Order: sequence, then structure tokens, then C-alpha cells
Amino acid sequence: MACRRGARSAAGLRSTTSRWNACDPMSELRHSVRHATRARRDSHDKSALGVWHASCMVQISTYRESTMALKSSYNMLSPDMLRKTTWKGSKTPPFENIENTTSGKMWSSIPGGHKWLGYFPVYDREFSRFRGKRPRVLEIGVYRGASLRLWSRFFGVGARIVGVDVNPQCSKSDNPGSNIHVEIGDQRDAAFLQSIVEKYGPFDLIIDDGSHVASHQIASFNALFMTGLKNNGIYFVEDFECMYWSNTDDYRDAPVTSTDFFKMLIDVQNSVFEDYTYQDFQVHRPTGLTEYSVFDIAKSLSNIKFARGVVVIEKMEQEPPRVLHL
Ligand SMILES: C[S@@+](CC[C@H](N)C(=O)[O-])C[C@H]1O[C@@H](n2cnc3c(N)ncnc32)[C@H](O)[C@@H]1O
Repeated sequence: MACRRGARSAAGLRSTTSRWNACDPMSELRHSVRHATRARRDSHDKSALGVWHASCMVQISTYRESTMALKSSYNMLSPDMLRKTTWKGSKTPPFENIENTTSGKMWSSIPGGHKWLGYFPVYDREFSRFRGKRPRVLEIGVYRGASLRLWSRFFGVGARIVGVDVNPQCSKSDNPGSNIHVEIGDQRDAAFLQSIVEKYGPFDLIIDDGSHVASHQIASFNALFMTGLKNNGIYFVEDFECMYWSNTDDYRDAPVTSTDFFKMLIDVQNSVFEDYTYQDFQVHRPTGLTEYSVFDIAKSLSNIKFARGVVVIEKMEQEPPRVLHL
């Protein structure tokens, strides 16, 4: 069946989407990104990222469609890589990731938490730069306060640790004397998050260990990354396994999974190349430009790193890309 890009009326959307089941949803997604890029070029509209989101929402109505397309691309890997094999793990201590990491050793003496053991080497590697530097840390998701106590110990004297949680019971972990603050509110609520930034931020590190629901993670990132995170800060999202569980759809409530949403930042990071040519970036040529029109966020997306279950997004104002031929 031929793919049709129909008019964007609500009724049209439903029928268009169902026809795409037989087409290639990823090619439609790519089309929607190109469409949004052209729209931005034409209008220089700073809200074009919103256009991008909106067009994804319009064109891929369920995560299933995008997931199906991504899964079919597994077949681009060699058969050797895709051969099913056995992965063995011990159920008894010692657990290497606890014994051999600072954060793991600390966490093992703090009751009331549960964590994937693979996170501790990532915490050590990515967060150590803030140890002893009195960072401001925001964590979405308090539960019994175990990770707030971990961060307080890990980052040391002077660290300001702020937890937000929708459950009023979490106020029990509020401990201003130890510079651990807990505020009650919903991670989807941009105004609430902004009030936290004004009261305690901006932050060096923001950790999203809240509901793990895709639309919530996306909403919090959109509310916090630009104004709530300092330059040279880290935005960290945990527990992407929720995007993959086969026994529940509860976390996959958005047209794309949150893993796909954060992967999309790699495209945004490189999006300046869509609007220019190689010559435009050559500093030694008269044709080389000195300024470029770019999505605001693209200027400060320095590193985007995925480990299993998590993403680390480093924010650092960047020079535009430059090429020098000697
Ligand atoms: C995985 S637990 C947090 C664990 C904690 N970070 C730790 O490691 O000890 C998730 C928490 O997110 C909270 N939560 C769920 N939905 C939320 C929402 N919409 N906004 C804020 N917090 C939410 C839950 O109440 C729960 O306490």
C-alpha cells in the first residue's frame, strides 16, 4: 500500500495513522523532522522544536509503531551479533559494582533504597566531578529518601540536595539541617519545577528517578534543562527499562518512548548541519560564516551518553562547529 501524507485534520490523522501501519513509520518520522526543519528555515520560528514534537505526535500515534520500525532495524546487525546466547549472573555477594565503586559502597550502608547495580560505576564516572564542590543537586523521585542520603554523602559538605516527589509522605525525608530538602509536587508540573529552580537552583545535577513514565520524563526535561540546569551541568535520567517491559504498557504513554526522545537529542545536536554546507564552516575561506541560525538547545548539548537504563546529557555552551584546512 502506498504511504500518504494526509491533511492534518483530527479525523484525517486517525485514518492516516492507521494506513501507516503498512508503511514505514520511521520514514514518516524522518519526513516529519524534515518538514519541521523546513518550517523553521522558512519562519525562523524559535518554537520549531515544538513543531517537531507536534509533528511526531501527529504522524506516529503509538510507541508501538515507532518501536516496530526500530526493532526491524535490528536486522541491520550481522547474524553473529544477533545470535541468542546465555548471559550468566551471580545472585550472591560480593557484587563487583558495589565493592568497586565509591557510590556503591556508600549506598550499601543506606537502608530503604533499591537500585540497578550497573548504575554505580556510571554514578562514579559521571558525577565525581562535583564531589567536594558544594553542588546543587535536584532529584525527582524521593521514595524513602535513600538516594538523597547517598547524594549528600557522595557529594560531601556543602552539597545542597533537593528531592521532589508527588507523594506527601516523602516529606519525612526533609532534613534542612543536613541540607536535604524535600518538596511535594508533580514532575509534570512545569510551574512547580520552576518554583523549585527559583528556590534552590539552578542545579549542577538533575536526576530524574521519578515515575519513569515517558510523558513525565519528557515534560520534566522540557521544564528544567534550559533554565534549571547550570552551564557545565548534567541532566541524568534513570530506568529506561520501563520503556521495554513486556508485561506492562503503563510507562509507554507517549508517541515515542523516552529513550527515543533522548536519542532524538543527538539529531538536534547535529541539526545545524541541516541548514548549511561544509563551506559555511570553513574558517580559512572567505565563504566561511561567522554566525549560524540554530535551535537554542543545540548550542549547549555537549555530550549525550547512554548506558544501559540511563542517559547522561551534559550541558555546556559550545562554539559553533569549525573546520580548518592547513
Ligand atoms: C523509584 S522511586 C524513587 C527512588 C529514590 N530516588 C531512591 O533511589 O531512593 C520513584 C518515586 O517517584 C515518585 N513519583 C511518581 N510519580 C511522580 C510524579 N508524577 N511526580 C513526582 N514524583 C513522582 C513516587 O512517589 C516515588 O517515590
